[in-house]
Amino acid sequence: MGDDRKTTRTKKRKVTDTETEVPPTENPVKTRKKNAQVSSSTQPERTIPTIPLTNGTSTPMSIPQLGFGTYRLKQSAVKPPLRLALLQSYPLLDTASVYNNEKQIGELLCALSLATPPFISTKLWRSHQGSPKIITQNLQKSLRALDVPAIDLYLLHWPGPGHHRFKKYQVPQDWTPQMRIETWKTMTSFLKTGECRAVGVSNFTIRHLEQLKAECEIIPAVNQIECHPFLVQKELRDYCKKDGIVVMAYCSLGEGDKKLLTHPAITNCADAVGKTPAQVLLRWAVEHGMVVIPCSTSEAHQKENMDIFEWELGEEWMAKLDSLDCGVRYGWKGQDPEDVP
Ligand SMILES: NC(=O)c1ccc[n+]([C@@H]2O[C@H](COP(=O)([O-])OP(=O)(O)OC[C@H]3O[C@@H](n4cnc5c(N)ncnc54)[C@H](OP(=O)(O)O)[C@@H]3O)[C@@H](O)[C@H]2O)c1
Repeated sequence: MGDDRKTTRTKKRKVTDTETEVPPTENPVKTRKKNAQVSSSTQPERTIPTIPLTNGTSTPMSIPQLGFGTYRLKQSAVKPPLRLALLQSYPLLDTASVYNNEKQIGELLCALSLATPPFISTKLWRSHQGSPKIITQNLQKSLRALDVPAIDLYLLHWPGPGHHRFKKYQVPQDWTPQMRIETWKTMTSFLKTGECRAVGVSNFTIRHLEQLKAECEIIPAVNQIECHPFLVQKELRDYCKKDGIVVMAYCSLGEGDKKLLTHPAITNCADAVGKTPAQVLLRWAVEHGMVVIPCSTSEAHQKENMDIFEWELGEEWMAKLDSLDCGVRYGWKGQDPEDVP
């Protein structure tokens, strides 16, 4: 992130009807007229740390350590919570073509016209692997929907193929692990065209990363994986660290699961450090050097989730939380990336 990001959004679009879905007291049309550029919120200024990204180009870049996840906020459901998050200065938003909300995010960003636009990560869906033409078309679709000239971070969503919902065959039907490599090579070509500022992967295991490394010049800038004290992923994180791959953790709050949020070790830790269980879980990931992207529809939770810097858990609590590792996965309904060839 830096000043160069201020030029990312060049086009201005008219506010569409769908923007009437934001609360009436916060009429976006008025906001735009009064404030061509919305720059601040009622929140105190907070500095969110950034982590340098190795993006395979000579242009230095970094990623904010906190962002807002938008999975499950389909179509216009994304606007009210994301608007709140952006006005509280969340510096990053995470989406994916499969979340079916890129267009609404683009509309909201255009309506807000923030002085510093957020860092955007989005993802190529697993079924869209294969020919450069298909991959390029999908990137173009995301660029158009988000209404930006370049994606800050473009991730391959899953190392394997998709599945036809009814017919039960894989998509693409001719998928092989080699297709993942070809897909990655096409994705890295977008660094040269300038349509992506960094490219990365998601849900890759060490085996998948090793394969990429053996066959490709550019290694991923980021691996977005599920990670929380019930799924510590130490070996994978250590591997990424060694290769300069930034780990972005998802499901840090276990999708809100009470078993994680009210686990005695987490609540005891929260009491000891004077924070909430959610803050402890997010801080645990941050202290391990990861980027976090919690999702929340609640303004109070969003505020809470931002207050995870400028204090520490310390080695002893970190070790206690690490010891909760039990291999629980919340994402992907029981699918395990380890099973992808
Ligand atoms: N790459 C991938 O394959 C992948 C997979 C899954 C997710 N992701 C990304 O990661 C993001 C985060 O994951 P997620 O949305 O699945 O789950 P999550 O962030 O772990 O959990 C979200 C849930 O936690 C609750 N919550 C948020 N803040 C809280 C707080 N302070 N106290 C108590 N509860 C709180 C939310 O409820 P309220 O709305 O009531 O606050 C919501 O139900 C996604 O949105 C998506 O961007 C990526």
